[in-house]
Amino acid sequence: MPFSFAASFLFLTVVGLVLLDSVIARPFEGPQIIQISGASTNVVSITSDPPSGCFPELGFAMPSSVPSSLEDWWCSTDSEYGFVGFSYEVTSCQSAEKLKEEFLDIRQTFNGRYVRLYGACDRVGFYDDVIDAAWEAGVGVYALVWFGFDNDDKWMTRRDTLLATLHSNPKAQFVTRAVQFGSEPLFDSVLSPINLAAQITSAKVNLSSLSIPVIISELAYGYQAHLKDGSMEVLDVIDFIGAHMLPFFSANASQAKNAWPIVQTDIDWFVKSAPSKKIYLTQNGWPSTSYPGVMPNSRLAVSNVQNEQAYYTLLDENCEYFKSVPGGGIGWFAHIYSDYQEPGYGIYGNDGLLKFPFSPKTSC
Ligand SMILES: *[C@@H]1O[C@H](CO)[C@@H](O)[C@H](O)[C@H]1NC(C)=O
Ligand SMILES: *[C@@H]1O[C@H](CO)[C@@H](O)[C@H](O)[C@H]1NC(C)=O
Repeated sequence: MPFSFAASFLFLTVVGLVLLDSVIARPFEGPQIIQISGASTNVVSITSDPPSGCFPELGFAMPSSVPSSLEDWWCSTDSEYGFVGFSYEVTSCQSAEKLKEEFLDIRQTFNGRYVRLYGACDRVGFYDDVIDAAWEAGVGVYALVWFGFDNDDKWMTRRDTLLATLHSNPKAQFVTRAVQFGSEPLFDSVLSPINLAAQITSAKVNLSSLSIPVIISELAYGYQAHLKDGSMEVLDVIDFIGAHMLPFFSANASQAKNAWPIVQTDIDWFVKSAPSKKIYLTQNGWPSTSYPGVMPNSRLAVSNVQNEQAYYTLLDENCEYFKSVPGGGIGWFAHIYSDYQEPGYGIYGNDGLLKFPFSPKTSC
């Protein structure tokens, strides 16, 4: 009896210490960080503790399970200025694996915080794959309802599929920063501005329980060309501004290093027309080649790799300015991730190699 009492006391003590240890050890150990991939200053990590910091700031550790609410989840938009990420064309219907690999590259190699989708992939479950890749890489996503250029009704099924996925996938609201209701829908006149505004409003209502903003991605010129038929109504209903900045196509274009007045003119127009709205340059770049569909409107415009690079250098040199713009500063996306997605605009060439060094500032 004394022996078995001693044995069971010992047993209970050991078990008790193990249990006690697992309870008390955690607070002193800090976050349980599991590194997914190798040495980098910006390692994506997973933590089983409640998240600290905000998504998708650099260095944020993704929680191991889906949070119960969006409270304190998203970073304040004021912190999002300078380089924020890449436009990413999905017409090639990248596999789930490829999405993961390239979103991780965007995060780790370039300190990207966001991926802005462009084009469309109508494969069943594609946006679920995007959500998984974004969650794993720790990047936010701008989803897109793509109208295309055929003037057909496919956008309606794309809209319904996307909205349904945003409601059905529990991770969707934690990685989807916005739904873009079209890329240049005003410039392309896909709907009347009044109808477009009504579509945006109804998508906002649909997504209100998920708190996902709805925007359009559009040129200043797209609004300016439709002032008489209601573009200001669109500017009014969007939650923030997704501005296209493609100075290569300006009638005043020459070399990229001289493009600042063109950029400034369009930014000034947005700031004046919607003073309190946050601005992101969602489609923003300078092509390294011209071809039908990508032709300049100025004899003096130069498209080559040096000018593609010079445009991003120009933006990077103006980080302080972007930080200071009313409405919480301006964050800019680079258009586009790779030449395989849209010839000439890629940071990567078709050979998969960087066309030039690219490490723009994410804060200043
Ligand atoms: C949002 O729209 C989708 C697609 O039409 C629909 O399946 C879903 O029920 C809607 N949800 C709400 C809350 O309106
Ligand atoms: C081109 O430059 C001129 C002179 O600076 C300016 O008045 C004009 O608004 C510019 N046009 C465009 C399309 O930027």
